[in-house]
Amino acid sequence: MSIQPKDLSHHLSVESASRRPSPLKAIAGSVSKKGINVISLAGGLPNPQYFPFRKMGSEIPSIGSWVRGAENEGKLSDFSVSMDSEDQDDLPLSVALQYGKGSGCAQLTSFLKEHTQMIHSPPYANWDILLTTGNTQGLDMCLRMLMNRGDSILVEKYTFPSALQAMRPMGLNAVSVDMDKNGMLPESLEEILNNWKGGNKPRVLYTIPSGQNPTGSTLSVERKEKIYALAQQHDFIIIEDEPYYYLQMDEYQGKPEAVDPKFTNEEFVNNLITSFLHIDVDGRVIRMDSLSKVVAPGSRVGWITAQPLFIERSLRYTETASQNASGISQAMLHALFKTWGHDGYLAWLKHIRYSYTERRNALLYAMDKHLPKSICSYIAPEAGMFIWFEVDKSAYKFADQGKSIAEIESDIHEEAIQDGANVACGNWFVVDSSINDKIFFRVTFAYAELPEFETAIERFANVLKKFFKS
Ligand SMILES: Cc1ncc(COP(=O)(O)O)c(C=O)c1O
Repeated sequence: MSIQPKDLSHHLSVESASRRPSPLKAIAGSVSKKGINVISLAGGLPNPQYFPFRKMGSEIPSIGSWVRGAENEGKLSDFSVSMDSEDQDDLPLSVALQYGKGSGCAQLTSFLKEHTQMIHSPPYANWDILLTTGNTQGLDMCLRMLMNRGDSILVEKYTFPSALQAMRPMGLNAVSVDMDKNGMLPESLEEILNNWKGGNKPRVLYTIPSGQNPTGSTLSVERKEKIYALAQQHDFIIIEDEPYYYLQMDEYQGKPEAVDPKFTNEEFVNNLITSFLHIDVDGRVIRMDSLSKVVAPGSRVGWITAQPLFIERSLRYTETASQNASGISQAMLHALFKTWGHDGYLAWLKHIRYSYTERRNALLYAMDKHLPKSICSYIAPEAGMFIWFEVDKSAYKFADQGKSIAEIESDIHEEAIQDGANVACGNWFVVDSSINDKIFFRVTFAYAELPEFETAIERFANVLKKFFKS
């Protein structure tokens, strides 16, 4: 017998529990029991003849054309999406450009659901997905669904600033969970929960398990299992924010280049780290996936995977917040995935993974070469886009000025900009500034051109030498 998700309705916020379906949405697509064709004069849907887009198309890389030396290297294919189509698997413009289902157009969501099944195989029955406009919106939606003003939420000691900016104005207390180079420490989480005295115990954990932003750390399966057991024991929900999941890389070998492991699709999937979703027998994980880092951030499409209760409540939110993800995006993404198929998309993800491995290696190599070793420490991230490095506070030349960590980082940042290198300051990611006692910077290998890495790091290294004894 299949596992049924637990009833977790006691976790719904006052806001979420009081949402009701829109009467107009509820009657959309009504059918007559008498078999009569129903003519709708109910909903305010424009007739598709007034949509000015009659056809949309794109040139996309042909499958495998991204592999260096491939027979079809660099080749493009094209697709076009028409106003109408007889093919059930198409997502024609008359549908995509119309008001749609809050959970997303069925043709696109069925591809993403199959993909989720293929990668995570959630263990309980009736799990589902709902399209978001990316994980930024997904998090806002989850917070509103689960949290009331004054509640506490568990977060990694250093985290994505936009997540904190979403939590704080909602009156949430972000509780800092300690971490090391391998991510959140289950022992720290346990200690916080066992000794909780500050009012309502936290009922939600927000985590970025793979290529964590900003630390680049990746949670092991062992830690995930311990954290999940704590979630069951202390009854909290896990929001796993995973935009970097597919950017999992091979070990850094101290060289600026990378070797393509030439995985088959099956090997690629088998090598991906086990997610919280995969071990979630209770339906207490809400997983947020995004196309931002693997297709394009401007597509503004992501999805959550969760048990039916959370999907239904999220649908009610979506109906009043965004109606649905952009139909233009959905049409283009659906056509892309239909052209590539699951195998083509996995091949693309392998390409992205390999490209980021090359970029990470090149940036690490430049750091190894130019940063003063006596004061800078970092580890090679196994996933994501970021390298997080500490600069030894004890070597700071101007300690007598009594500046805070944030002020020191800010001075260095300002000077670095003047000298032509922009990096992110550690304090921008700190959850609890009262325990911010180390100097950190975050650099990314995602955007700059490969040949620029060394110049940027050399410039930053020279700035550090002005501020630190090395
Ligand atoms: C941890 C984390 N979550 C979410 C986002 C934003 O994702 P999206 O573009 O899907 O809204 C980012 C982007 O930098 C991120 O680092």
